[in-house]
Amino acid sequence: MTTLEQSDTSGAGDVAHLTARRFERMRPFGGGPAPRFDTRGLPPGPRWPVLLQSVALIRFRHRFVPWLWRRYGDVFTVRVVPGGRPLVLFTRPEHAKEIFAGDPEVFHAGKGNAILGPIMGEHSLLLQDDAQHKRARALLMPAFNGQALRSYRDLVDEVARAEVARWHPDEEFRSLDRMNALTLEVILRVVFGVTDERRLARLRPCVSRTVDISPAILLGWGYPALQRFGPWRRTVDNAYRLDELIYAEIRERRATGDLDQRSDVLSRLILAGGDGDRLTDEELRDQLVTLLLAGHETTASALSWALYEIGRDHRQLTLAREAAHSGDDDHLEAVLKESMRLHPVIPMVVRTLMRPATVGGWDLPAGATVGPSILIAHARSEHHPHPERFDPTRFRGHNPPVNTWIPFGGGVRRCIGAGFSLMEGVAVLRAVLTAYDVTALGADRPRVRNITSVPRRGSRIRVSRPG
Ligand code: HEM
Repeated sequence: MTTLEQSDTSGAGDVAHLTARRFERMRPFGGGPAPRFDTRGLPPGPRWPVLLQSVALIRFRHRFVPWLWRRYGDVFTVRVVPGGRPLVLFTRPEHAKEIFAGDPEVFHAGKGNAILGPIMGEHSLLLQDDAQHKRARALLMPAFNGQALRSYRDLVDEVARAEVARWHPDEEFRSLDRMNALTLEVILRVVFGVTDERRLARLRPCVSRTVDISPAILLGWGYPALQRFGPWRRTVDNAYRLDELIYAEIRERRATGDLDQRSDVLSRLILAGGDGDRLTDEELRDQLVTLLLAGHETTASALSWALYEIGRDHRQLTLAREAAHSGDDDHLEAVLKESMRLHPVIPMVVRTLMRPATVGGWDLPAGATVGPSILIAHARSEHHPHPERFDPTRFRGHNPPVNTWIPFGGGVRRCIGAGFSLMEGVAVLRAVLTAYDVTALGADRPRVRNITSVPRRGSRIRVSRPG
């Protein structure tokens, strides 16, 4: 347990030490040799070299995973680096249910995200498991409940309208870029609660560089010697600058006497836990960076796909515009949900087995990773008739069957920001569509960017004043 005073440990002099310690301790894959797996008895899958399978899964998942499904059926195994560890993907809702409901002490989620350790830090909600995860989740959850979400709404509206006010009639642009800028601003103002313009100006480039880190850089962290060179060196330097700014913000925020009057996420997190268990400065830093990385590009991608879909279908545009004008938020939310179904931003969720377990009738060894494929779950025609069609009415008045729409994962690890991203998405669609009509410029398709799937051409649109 930590008191408010004890936890305020990070003077400027300590920051370099904290950053360096994180890079030293948080090696992807734990730094040790990869365990060996007996792959006999696992669900079927390709026998290609492990590196080839890993690259296919990471870079070409939109073609590779549907191909695996057609070739091997509803459950299949991919062997991935390091060491050819098995990743068993499931595509049926009853299997997703088994995984989501699995004992969290056996079905670990943090392990699968270890690669993000040097950026997010060991306290990150995404990286923790067991009791530590339970504690962190309990401390973070209140900042994302319905009441908290309502308190963020005005500021999100304001940021969304300010962004749209910068657009000009008949302007053409990559909506993904504008949505990225917008969701970043929402994180900085609503999550970090930063209002000082000078600090915002210093934070923006550091934060952008942090979210831009490529998988090659992430993988390179397995080799500490690289940290002295080129892009790895720049990553460490940037991480240090970002840490300095975040710790300064935390220190100053703790010193203000009006924390309980503030509605941003950081202020709520500082107060979380009452007089008992509080988050330390280091924990706060790690959770803020986690929220930034988990909540920024994901929401931007979902929004750019939504603009793409309504921008290429006049009827959908008319319906969405009417909804925006009449305050029918349910329809705008249905537009977002259907965009996330048709274009899943995250392709799968994974759990690593701490003990042998049976999933979907398959006996799987400890160390194997299992997960529902969101891509395939959303494309099954028995649950989503004509799955290739964009049809928001799927989400009007009823929802698709349980575990057939899983863009936010599920169980005790379900995305903590699901409600936040829908609230933000509705606010943005409303701001756009009350000001402009949207036309999509040409066809687009998904490509992998870091962990998320984004429109390859950035979902180019033209905005025009309604006639
Ligand atoms: C369209 C937007 C988003 C999508 C598609 C998305 C998707 C996901 C998925 C698939 C997971 C993993 C769930 C699992 O393992 O079962 C996740 C976890 C998480 N997301 Fe999101 N997310 C989005 C927005 C956000 C936002 C806005 C935030 C915060 C501001 C956020 C914060 C998190 C966190 C902290 C976790 C880890 C939860 C845990 O491990 O307990 N996400 N998200």
